[in-house]
Amino acid sequence: MTSFGTTKKDLDQISADAAAVFMFQGQKAPAGINNKKLRDTLSGVLADERFEGKPGQAVVMSSNGQFPARRYIVVGLGKKEKFGPAMLRDAVAIAARKAEVARASHLVMTVPGEGVGKLTAEDRVTALVEGVRLGTYKFDRYLNEESKKSHPAEEVTIVTDLAPAAVKEGIRIGEATSDATILARDLVTEPAGVMTPTEMAKRASAIARSKGISIKILEKKDLERLGMGAFLAVNAGSAEPPKLIHLTYRPKGGKAKRRVALVGKGITFDSGGLNLKPTGFMETMKCDMSGAAAVLAAISAVAELGTNVEVHGFMAMTENMIGGRAYKPGDVLKTMRGITVEVTNTDAEGRLVLIDALAYAQTHKPDAIIDLATLTGACVVALGPLAAGVMGNDTKLVETLCETGSEVGEKMWPMPLYEEYLEIMASDVADLRNSGERWGGALTAGLFLQEFVDEKTPWAHMDIAGPAFQEKETPMARKGGTGAGVRTLVRYLSSL
Ligand code: BES
Ligand code: MN
Ligand code: ZN
Repeated sequence: MTSFGTTKKDLDQISADAAAVFMFQGQKAPAGINNKKLRDTLSGVLADERFEGKPGQAVVMSSNGQFPARRYIVVGLGKKEKFGPAMLRDAVAIAARKAEVARASHLVMTVPGEGVGKLTAEDRVTALVEGVRLGTYKFDRYLNEESKKSHPAEEVTIVTDLAPAAVKEGIRIGEATSDATILARDLVTEPAGVMTPTEMAKRASAIARSKGISIKILEKKDLERLGMGAFLAVNAGSAEPPKLIHLTYRPKGGKAKRRVALVGKGITFDSGGLNLKPTGFMETMKCDMSGAAAVLAAISAVAELGTNVEVHGFMAMTENMIGGRAYKPGDVLKTMRGITVEVTNTDAEGRLVLIDALAYAQTHKPDAIIDLATLTGACVVALGPLAAGVMGNDTKLVETLCETGSEVGEKMWPMPLYEEYLEIMASDVADLRNSGERWGGALTAGLFLQEFVDEKTPWAHMDIAGPAFQEKETPMARKGGTGAGVRTLVRYLSSL
């Protein structure tokens, strides 16, 4: 694992396996290089390579023994006016991957765009740490070939004039948020044959023990006692027992200012149930517990960093399978809240487990509720694979989460819950049906959930079906689970 140190020395005087510097579009040379000979040599190479400083552009120049570092990596930052937390992370991640290709063990780098934009010193350093750690992360535990595994730098030296206390705190936060994001990625990318509800409960228990978080695991009989007919119906076709995992973080000493509940969809495999998913749509459905993984990861980071709010996490874990005992289209379910639901599609299972988990979460009287779920393909159609859709009964909470997302480089976009669309979810035989029509599918799912939330409790729903799992590599994440939502939640909970 990469460790981080800092120096105030000039980057061009440090010997290392690689040195990374950054350059905006329209700049003549990368910031941080004062040695004239190195500067001229680099400028020549950059001109030869037609390097313009565009986002994602990168050039690696070997020193061939002429300069202190063995190689210099130059990464483009795009237009100065557009610079922000996402570009900072991406540029660092690209640099860290170039260093990885060269198997650099010691990497030095400047802080991209230091002095540009409105970011605090702490946030800049946190972003840098996350760029390195998350950009080079790879789920490689099943790869035998050494060359295919990840080889991140062992040591990164940050060259900066930023205030030492802020830098230190930035590193501390970045390490905790990276660890948490990596935890979520590992849980999501692990095959569904391994990551069953029982295995999730085991992992959550181990984390809770090591971090001083309280944990209570509700078993099938508890869900029966609580009348969670919707949650249990989804589990009916599965050979694996369900688990409702309840984590509680309490601030050390003193009374908590507020109580926040996080609720995560934890479908460890979504076959679609009897409304079976066709080939091409089922292959990645181990990702359907990404919401629950984000809840566990966020609480684990909060316990590490500390905050003065009480945080409750609820992870609703089950498979959605077929079989002789599976729930059926046409079934009418009685939920914990007493509201009845007609099953019109067994593939709309996420909202069924969530409504009972939301009902249970509300018995703990939270001041705010945030749920995270890989809930609808419709949300991916609306926003594409990079962004989460955020909706809820409280505009302020939704806006805050979207803004917080942009501060940590996560794309979160507000979506409306037009009440006219609720009639789409009306049933002839029950209070509601669980699937509507094709149009507005992300919103009707949100409206359905809203029926199970007290009007007076601020609630936001994050549909992370797009960003939770990537089939294309981005600078900040290779293919697989991304840990979507984790950084946003941690920053939000730390800011209260
Ligand atoms: N887990 C899926 C949603 C999903 C789709 C997540 C793509 C990640 C990527 C969810 O359970 C589902 O199947 N939703 C249905 C709902 C429909 C039946 C109303 C969908 O989106 O098609
Ligand atoms: Mn489904
Ligand atoms: Zn699902």
